[in-house]
Amino acid sequence: MKILVTGGAGFIGANFLNLLVPRHPEHTFVNADKLTYAANLGSLAEIATAPNYLFTRVDIADMAAVDAAFDEHAPDVVVHFAAESHVDRSISGPREFVRTNIEGTFNLLEAARRTWKDGQGLFHHVSTDEVYGSLGTEGLFTEDTRYDPSSPYSASKAASDHLVRAYHRTFKLPVKLTNCSNNYGPLQFPEKLIPLMIMNAQDGKPLPVYGQGTNVRDWLYVEDHCEAIWTVVQRGAVGETYNIGGNNEVKNIDVVHGLCNVLAQEMGRPPAELLGLITYVKDRPGHDLRYAIDATKIKEQLGWSPRETFETGLRKTVRWYLDHKVWVDQVRNGEYRNWIEQNYAGR
Ligand code: NAD
Ligand code: TYD
Repeated sequence: MKILVTGGAGFIGANFLNLLVPRHPEHTFVNADKLTYAANLGSLAEIATAPNYLFTRVDIADMAAVDAAFDEHAPDVVVHFAAESHVDRSISGPREFVRTNIEGTFNLLEAARRTWKDGQGLFHHVSTDEVYGSLGTEGLFTEDTRYDPSSPYSASKAASDHLVRAYHRTFKLPVKLTNCSNNYGPLQFPEKLIPLMIMNAQDGKPLPVYGQGTNVRDWLYVEDHCEAIWTVVQRGAVGETYNIGGNNEVKNIDVVHGLCNVLAQEMGRPPAELLGLITYVKDRPGHDLRYAIDATKIKEQLGWSPRETFETGLRKTVRWYLDHKVWVDQVRNGEYRNWIEQNYAGR
């Protein structure tokens, strides 16, 4: 099979490719990525020269580029990760979210519809639990929960989910969707809560906790998410949606406390030194209180459940950031961005 992976140089896409390229030499994986600030080809160093892996620079919001990629690579499957993914950026600059997440998904669906005939192909759409909006203190998101997105990010993902389902109902395009809770693990860009706190704590900088730190997220180790997506690609039913979650609800302040304690142990520093960096800052506008997933459907129908506990996953993540100084420094000092500008100028 030829599998077109959009956004494969980002956090989850790179983890997905690093897991699956070596495991499946019988499939070819084509990574189509625009290489925005959130991407890093260094994240794919281990598979860059694998015979079943190819990289192509594509902006999914550019219809001609998407058409050209489909014509050149003739994929059997699309696994669609590419997106603008950070809620805070969607508040300060929503336009790119509409462009990439909505128009980009539309372009991919159009190219797939043109390319695949008579039930051929599979379009796997990777989405988020944030489309369901905020929970109160009780209850869980199921696949039937009403959409009620709060941020421009979640609204753009909700729109893309609707387009994917509409292409299935109207044009019979074979699609599958997964809506997952917050991921953490290696290769995550340090604007998201967990890597941001790891970097700041290492540098002795303030650890900015929004509001009272009482918002709850359901954390899932990124490799568990990747395994779930692959399970759905292989064995999920066409036209269906599967919620993916870690069964692991934690308040933000408890995440930060846990991180400080693990980091202190791993760095041989007193925990109080790191805990003292916690600073409460102005809350995010429209900040969803709580996300929590009911993952019964994927567990019962496809046999998937998470392997990593939050404790082991956090420790692995902290170790990864401490052990990968080159990756971290490149991401932080802009060296990688300069490299992209020089190497991809005009392409
Ligand atoms: P990320 O921001 O780390 O990576 C996004 C990737 O998409 C980058 O490599 C970027 O270059 C690429 N991209 C952005 N715009 C593009 C464009 N116009 N054309 C081509 N490529 C483009 O994101 P992530 O955290 O890896 O998330 C991947 C997907 O998973 C997203 O669709 C996101 O909505 C979804 N998701 C993320 C989480 C999470 O916790 N991170 C949870 C659930 C779902
Ligand atoms: P984030 O990693 O941005 O993911 P999302 O907003 O998609 O859930 O944030 C996770 C939680 O952490 C969210 O409730 C906002 C909070 N947060 C902070 O308290 N401080 C920060 O610096 C960041 C980035 C997030």
